[in-house]
Amino acid sequence: MKISVIGAGNVGSTTALKLVQKNLADVVLVDIAEGVAEGKALDIQHSVAVWNGESKIKGTTGISQISGSDIVIVTAGFPRKPGMNRDELLKTNENIIKSISAEIKKHAPDSIVIVVTNPLDIMTYLALKKTGFPRERVLGMAGILDTSRFKALISEETKTNYNDIETMVLGGHNELMVPLVNQTTVSNRPLKDVLSSDKIEELLEKTRGIGKQIVEKSGSAYYAPSAAIVSMVEAIKNDTGKTLPISVHLEGEYNQNSICMGVPVSLGKDGMKKIIELNLSEKERKALNNSAKTIKENIARLKL
Ligand code: LAC
Repeated sequence: MKISVIGAGNVGSTTALKLVQKNLADVVLVDIAEGVAEGKALDIQHSVAVWNGESKIKGTTGISQISGSDIVIVTAGFPRKPGMNRDELLKTNENIIKSISAEIKKHAPDSIVIVVTNPLDIMTYLALKKTGFPRERVLGMAGILDTSRFKALISEETKTNYNDIETMVLGGHNELMVPLVNQTTVSNRPLKDVLSSDKIEELLEKTRGIGKQIVEKSGSAYYAPSAAIVSMVEAIKNDTGKTLPISVHLEGEYNQNSICMGVPVSLGKDGMKKIIELNLSEKERKALNNSAKTIKENIARLKL
């Protein structure tokens, strides 16, 4: 498998490292900054030599090197600075995603695109429009990350292993994300039977704000985002059909049209196999609609 990672910042280079560490693919790391992708790729290749791995990684400024990629991961763009919310990145990252999408369309027309750049749902929508790819092949990574954060908080609070916690966060990758409390179980017991509603509310608040807190403490997150990307790659490569929360273009599902937003998606070798429509409570449905409204307002700001 050939995977290209566009953007050799923290998210891109950590993703590239994990991909070769797991021997998932040969990787091309691309960055417009002279020398950066090349230097990081050399360093990563030497680490493969340390553990006698097989994967090859190459760094370049030449985006045409992505040709023939099975998957293209887009991490390029500016991350948040302290005090910013993700939507404030729209103007700065719009042109970057536009030009990268045109290059992907030209050089890797059969690839599956995983978008990671913020504001996530808006940039996924933009990549879909500008590549012209079918929606099955344009996937936004965010829900897995948000879910990991909710899960970590539940685990800490209930002293339960991650393995025994089932949960999912849907909606936009913004302050209005929608953790599915009703569908969350801890060792097969409903979360609502395990924690008080005040405690659950507290964990929800923390889940929504924790990305911002990480930005303030150490800069924008990249270990968990790259882990989340790799979990998508594994589901695609091994054609597992695994259901993961992913931002995709909605065409009537969850009562939404013409937006990209996080919903449960079954992933396989051709990208999205299908969207899983869950039976949501009235409250969850309303929360999703609210989340969608913000995404729509931001999509309207794009110069398509
Ligand atoms: C976060 C950024 C990457 O949630 O959106 O950490």
